[in-house]
Amino acid sequence: MTLPRIVIERCQYLARCSEEAGAITRPFASEAMRCAHERVSEWMREAGMAVRRDNVGNLRGGFEGTGKTTLLLGSHLDSVRNAGKYDGPLGVTVAIAAVQRLHDAGTRLPFAIEVLAFADEEGLRFGSIYLGSRAVAGTFDLADLARTDGDGTTMRDAIRAFGGDPDRIDDDKWSGGPLLGYCEVHIEQGPVLEARNLPVGVVSAIAGQGRHRITFTGEAAHAGTTPMDKRRDALVAASVFVQAVEDYAGSDEGLVATVGQLEVRPGAANVIPGEVALSLDVRHPDDSERVVASRRLLDIAAEIAKHRNIGLASSQISANATVPCSRRLASTLVRAVQDLGHPLVELASGAGHDAVAMSAITEVGMLFVRCKGGVSHNPAESVTTDDVAVAIDVLSRFLELLAEDNPK
Ligand code: GLV
Ligand code: MN
Ligand code: MN
Repeated sequence: MTLPRIVIERCQYLARCSEEAGAITRPFASEAMRCAHERVSEWMREAGMAVRRDNVGNLRGGFEGTGKTTLLLGSHLDSVRNAGKYDGPLGVTVAIAAVQRLHDAGTRLPFAIEVLAFADEEGLRFGSIYLGSRAVAGTFDLADLARTDGDGTTMRDAIRAFGGDPDRIDDDKWSGGPLLGYCEVHIEQGPVLEARNLPVGVVSAIAGQGRHRITFTGEAAHAGTTPMDKRRDALVAASVFVQAVEDYAGSDEGLVATVGQLEVRPGAANVIPGEVALSLDVRHPDDSERVVASRRLLDIAAEIAKHRNIGLASSQISANATVPCSRRLASTLVRAVQDLGHPLVELASGAGHDAVAMSAITEVGMLFVRCKGGVSHNPAESVTTDDVAVAIDVLSRFLELLAEDNPK
């Protein structure tokens, strides 16, 4: 079987590592993740890598070079709920394929490669994103260990149950000497490459994002006996807010804002909702505009709550500034794309990636692969074997060019 076909089959195989039958849901430190680790570690070993799992739960494959520097490659193995097959696993399996090619040819580069299969990029289980890459970058917030999942399990206990030591997350920090950079292959998750009929594109920057948790607190009461004018319905307040978020974001060109989670309590057909907790995700390529928009949306939530005599609490879950990709790595990727005879497009990413966290310790570069219909975070996510072949070729050429530019 050809390497591109192997990559597609591996992504399909990983889709079966899920905690939900008939859907792909692979949270941080779950049994589904353990299933993924078993296979990915085999694939890493087959490609000549020494494999280890770190405390936070990243799988790390090391491929020796002849010099003292290291290039990091990778992406994430966790998923959103009811995910597609390629968001994350594509980057991990393409990186392994590129190393496999070196291994099969008996090639050693002047730098080592470490393939990082990150434990958590999406934040599905604990709300906090980039857990795996932040541990490697040394920016993991130890306060996150006290976060609880939907079942009340703390992150500390989840890490321990998965086999890591939550008190030694600091040991996961990169300590392997000088880095040449971090390069991530990822599906585009948007429509640009398809519209231009291009298999791959080079990422120029990754848009900043902020996440908040907002709780509206009204009063739970009887649905049959409480007159309409005496209610303090938290869900109605939240609904007005959800509409306001869409209206506000729709009025600003670069802004996107989403309410993606809503918890209604007590959650019974005959009880007026007393409390609603929701997530707010705000993104803009310009960080100052994002901060202004987030502030305005929180003010709008406060106005709605006040008008309806409803309590409001909010907290910021995460905030990441826009990260520019390194010119050095982007221009090496550009040369690789052009050497292979493909037209070039450089594009910004609206989605967040582990490269954001990795930018704290090294220069980052990303290669996007065309995705069918621009659809992602959806089971319909799809890439073609031909495009995967281009991605592996570009990454391999990128490694050659980097070796020429960094002979030792
Ligand atoms: C990651 O997929 C994101 O939310 O951008
Ligand atoms: Mn994603
Ligand atoms: Mn992703």
